[in-house]
Amino acid sequence: MGQLIDEIGIIFADAFERLGLDRAYGAVRRSDRPELADFQCNGALAAAKAAKRNPRGIAADIADSVKTSALISSIDIAGPGFLNIQISNAALARCVESIRQDTHRAGARPVATPQKIILDFGGANIAKPMHVGHLRTAVIGDSLQRIFRFLGDEVISDIHMGDWGLQMGHLITELQAEQPDLVYFDDDFTGPYPEASPVDIEDLSRLYPQASNKAKADPDRLAQSQAAIAQLQAGRAGYRALLEHFVDISIASLKLDYGFLGVSFDLWLGEKDVEPLIPDMIEDIKARGLAHEDKGALIIPVEQESDTKDYPPFMLLNSRGASLYHTSDLATILDRVRRYDPDRMLYVVDQRQALHFEQVFRAADIVGYISADRMEHLGFGTVNGKDGKPFKTREGGTLKLSDLTGMAFNMAEQKITEGGRLSSDIGGAEKQDIAALVARAALRFADLQNTRTTNYVFDLDKFTSFEGKTGPYLLYQVVRIKSLLRKAQAEGHKAGDIHIESEAERNLALTLEGFDLALHMTHQKRMPHILCEHVYTLAQGFAALYGAHKIATEPDDTVRASRLAICQSVLLQLETGLNLLGIKAPERM
Ligand code: ARG
Repeated sequence: MGQLIDEIGIIFADAFERLGLDRAYGAVRRSDRPELADFQCNGALAAAKAAKRNPRGIAADIADSVKTSALISSIDIAGPGFLNIQISNAALARCVESIRQDTHRAGARPVATPQKIILDFGGANIAKPMHVGHLRTAVIGDSLQRIFRFLGDEVISDIHMGDWGLQMGHLITELQAEQPDLVYFDDDFTGPYPEASPVDIEDLSRLYPQASNKAKADPDRLAQSQAAIAQLQAGRAGYRALLEHFVDISIASLKLDYGFLGVSFDLWLGEKDVEPLIPDMIEDIKARGLAHEDKGALIIPVEQESDTKDYPPFMLLNSRGASLYHTSDLATILDRVRRYDPDRMLYVVDQRQALHFEQVFRAADIVGYISADRMEHLGFGTVNGKDGKPFKTREGGTLKLSDLTGMAFNMAEQKITEGGRLSSDIGGAEKQDIAALVARAALRFADLQNTRTTNYVFDLDKFTSFEGKTGPYLLYQVVRIKSLLRKAQAEGHKAGDIHIESEAERNLALTLEGFDLALHMTHQKRMPHILCEHVYTLAQGFAALYGAHKIATEPDDTVRASRLAICQSVLLQLETGLNLLGIKAPERM
């Protein structure tokens, strides 16, 4: 079956056509005033203008022409010619049943033209600990990849680690100062290098700030790290071997943080992986006359006629001849185009990097790798503290992602324990698993429910609450439906034909109907908060049904069977939607 909204749209388009008017006037949408109508059609106004007729007259003709449809229970004309449409209960029942049966898609259709998309998100840096900003790119990027795939796109996600550049030079030189006798620093050593890393993740998080602080105070110390990078670039074997160790242990630790959040990547590539492509890439760009020297640096001018102010050039090499963040992004585009030939490339990165990406996109277009209109920077706002400034720890540092997930876990555990929220027979490992799912739901939903581009205030206490617009609230509703359906099953009650009668049932049915639209809007705008809004409304709709009616304990067999079927439909769509947000509910609580 098609979508209810489309079926209604066709009925109205047909009606306009019968009056000799354009079918496009028949577009319908959900009513702005749900207390008055389910759907509305405003086409009579524009049609009247074009046909030089009275809009109320046209509206009356349309109303007359559609009123025999079984999908429509009533239609009235408001104001100058708005058509307010009430859907029949039978049509709503059919819609809820078709969602119930659609076990894989819960009522959502795939996109009409699926695309091959490279999704660049995560962007964790080796050695530098992840911060709350990395929470945003991780959960937004991961949700988008789930949504794109669900709707039929082919997605290749890449973490694009920051594993090249000064921080590597810092790590190498600082380690050398601490342990000069390691074979990695011995020029006469011919290998093979040891398989075990000489450092662990704690060492890395200590060495980096240590070196970085020294370099800030001492230009010679900075020069040492820069020299190490140059040698790394030139292929010094001991340094290369160290780099591999650093990356491997960082990935192992990153996988724990991402795993807790339910975030995954297809590719664990980074800046270092495209570094070998850079020399040839630069030669080629120079040979084609697209780059030139400017004050010792090598640049690609990327300004456009439409620019209203001076536009900074794209820098391929700085005046020391070193490649930059820009350069590795351009080389990565070249690599991705060669390997995957994607339709689009999307970057989920902090809004503050907007200029960077615009420059990169312009440059990639100029050098002919991919046109700028096939690339998108999906920026996001910052996570702020209650003071409105970017979130810091009490000591004033940035909060590490691993500390953040740890705090969320502890608070979730406390919240499920207090107030007797958990069944008394749940403890041990099951309780730990539930706390982890609650923490994940709390962090992900708190982030995703905000319009991507806005900032939000980090408030763990609020995020982990079971009341309000939170992840835990959603889990609570899912668990409630599950337990109700289990109870009914244990008593031998089966789901049956759906009848939509009460207001709570109607509202829920109309919400279920809106999933497809919400998902496609989410996809089109790359804005997960639209889907969040949908699942939250659905959960609230269920809570209203639960508050208004008996379900498993309803004495009337037909009514009970119908309500159980409605609940199955809601559960399916709720879990499907939550899964797309990377949120999983426990079986019970
Ligand atoms: N590592 C960067 C950072 O932490 C983010 C990388 C984003 N992706 C990209 N292709 N530049 O800021």
